[in-house]
Amino acid sequence: MKGLILSGGKGTRLRPLTYTGAKQLVPVANKPILWYGIESLVKAGITDIGIIVSPETGGEIEARTGTGEQFGAKITYILQASPDGLAHAVKIARPFLQADPFVMYLGDNLIQDGLKGFVQRFQAQALDALILLKPVPNPTAFGVAEVDPKGRVLRLVEKPPIPPSNLALVGVYLFSPEIHTAIDHIHPSARGELEITDAIQQLIDSQQTVEAQTLSGWWLDTGKKDDLLEANRIILDEYLGPPQIEGTVDAISQVSGRVKIGIGSQLVNCTVRGPVVIGENCHLENCFVGAYSSIADGVTLTDVEIDHSVVLQGAQIVGIHQRIVDSLIGQRARLTTAPQRPKALRFLIGDDSQIELT
Ligand code: DAU
Repeated sequence: MKGLILSGGKGTRLRPLTYTGAKQLVPVANKPILWYGIESLVKAGITDIGIIVSPETGGEIEARTGTGEQFGAKITYILQASPDGLAHAVKIARPFLQADPFVMYLGDNLIQDGLKGFVQRFQAQALDALILLKPVPNPTAFGVAEVDPKGRVLRLVEKPPIPPSNLALVGVYLFSPEIHTAIDHIHPSARGELEITDAIQQLIDSQQTVEAQTLSGWWLDTGKKDDLLEANRIILDEYLGPPQIEGTVDAISQVSGRVKIGIGSQLVNCTVRGPVVIGENCHLENCFVGAYSSIADGVTLTDVEIDHSVVLQGAQIVGIHQRIVDSLIGQRARLTTAPQRPKALRFLIGDDSQIELT
């Protein structure tokens, strides 16, 4: 069985972060989202993995992720010239996939359940597709499945204005090579993409075996800021082990709970309440860092209180007098104030940024 991770696309919903970088590399608990997918495949014994990349961000993804050696996998990068849909990505991956069954994993999705059980069911029942479903409060934002009382899939629709159920299609799919024939029969949708939902519907219509399984664990589609913060909260809660302090913490700082501090980082007069992860070579002085915060490598925080937030590499936050909460701060961003309470606010903010002074 092979793995195919889709890591192309445009990432419009995470702008401005994704103007300069791939959304699949935005970190959750200081690790790129994409890497969780790779690790999940490897854990299920799938080590021959293709990654679909776009011309804009493919170089960065390849440079960071490498040959796969660090994951115990062999990675083949497949360039998709334009984001023409999930089924289009499978189409161009055909020379890599050949006649092998495969797990398709959307590079911005995270699921709690291990893949092993799904792979076993898919193989034991010799299915042509196994799709995963999860009830959601906002099905119009997803592919949606209509299932009969026995749980058989009757119909799939992509982002329907009037959803036939609340069962969203999770971004992890298991396919036999029959999917290629199905893709050959579909046409671009109204939004101009070759939709994987249409290809699966084609499988259903041609009497192939398509089954669905409802996920028992959490599922996160990290496409938007609040989803990303939620993913960060859940991952820190579940995966952060006992305290691991590799940097230096001075005697008056207080670090409690599950906290990881990377090599070369320095904490001076700080209070940190885990779960929190602080990367390498950070400088934190006179700060409070509250639970569910992830601070990436090379960040400077001085005279700052921050809580439930994600700060990306090289950002500098200095002397902000109000507590920063529920925030996502991009790479190399600088937030500073004058030592006295500021009388004016001065901004240089990228396109699509969001500032809420609450
Ligand atoms: O997250 C689950 C949803 O993912 C499903 O419920 C939908 O049925 C499915 O169509 C998909 O919807 P999204 O609108 O969230 O897909 P998005 O455009 O965000 O793309 C998902 C991933 O695939 C993302 O990592 C980018 C990548 N991608 C996307 C396209 C359109 C590609 O690699 N190539 C592409 O052409």
